[in-house]
Amino acid sequence: MHLLKDRGFVHPLSSEITPKATYLNRRTLIQGLAGAAATAASSAWPALAQGGRPGKGAALAANRSEVAGATATDKPTSYADITSYNNYYEFGTDKSDPARTAGTLKPRPWTVVVEGEVKKPGTFDLDALLKLSPLEERLYRLRCVEGWSMVIPWIGYSLAELIKRVEPTGNAKYVQFVSLADKAQMPGLSAPVLEWPYVEGLRMDEAMHPLTLLAFGLYGEVLPNQNGAPVRAVVPWKYGFKSAKSIVKIRFVEKQPKTSWETAIASEYGFYSNVNPKVDHPRWSQATERRIGEDGLFAKKRPTLMFNGYEPQVGQLYAGMDLKKYY
Ligand code: MTE
Repeated sequence: MHLLKDRGFVHPLSSEITPKATYLNRRTLIQGLAGAAATAASSAWPALAQGGRPGKGAALAANRSEVAGATATDKPTSYADITSYNNYYEFGTDKSDPARTAGTLKPRPWTVVVEGEVKKPGTFDLDALLKLSPLEERLYRLRCVEGWSMVIPWIGYSLAELIKRVEPTGNAKYVQFVSLADKAQMPGLSAPVLEWPYVEGLRMDEAMHPLTLLAFGLYGEVLPNQNGAPVRAVVPWKYGFKSAKSIVKIRFVEKQPKTSWETAIASEYGFYSNVNPKVDHPRWSQATERRIGEDGLFAKKRPTLMFNGYEPQVGQLYAGMDLKKYY
């Protein structure tokens, strides 16, 4: 993330962001309808893919989620920005590297191993995972620890749906995510920037929270490789690095699991990593953020919100905890 200097963001051509206008028109229309018929809205929500898709991925249809907090009110970031400004160190440390180099990732066939403290461990084929629960569209804010943010229309379902199927034992206190680490597919693995495979983790109640998403797509299509195809986690109230990409293993464990960033620099990246404007990173403030797409010469920084704006939904998970200590 900051082991190497970010060389800056290349603004997309206006021709590349046209699909956003299509998307926004549809969203405005649907939001209007939703007010009048809230209960019918989710089934009426058309796949974003209809009427022209933004990228080259296969269409992935989904209804709008009814989980509280699942729809940010801010404007979605353009497809071009979401898919060209990435952190995916297995494909290079520059923001523009993953879009250029992740073509070597093979997202099919794909399996996810679920193991550890569960009564029903197993290996899930991607198609089985896709069918496990109805796919939902969720517009989440993503705040990166580096100080920028985006608003992304993800497609997936609550990770809790999968967790319930595998029946965790009483010893399951944490969940660890393991990303793919294959040198043949991932050129960045030859650089010792992080310990591979990339690992992340959540406390069990965080993993079970309905906002924690197992994502398979964005903007009406399957996930582009650079965004973590074919399946990733999205934890919207935590800094972006908690959201592991291209997951191959989900492990249920009793002790707080290792994470790649904590292993690399424990004094800077803690296990919790909740978005918190009041707790600075040792090397910079976390009080404000730059919204990707609004980074013109006169664009104002936005104030960062407690728990990235999801405090009403997740604040109680941390009641009584010293968030300076558990950063
Ligand atoms: N997952 C893996 N396996 N490797 C990574 O380097 N980067 C993280 C996270 N997940 C990363 C990862 C960081 S720092 C961020 S901000 C988000 O992915 C970025 O997700 P996006 O590129 O889809 O916006």
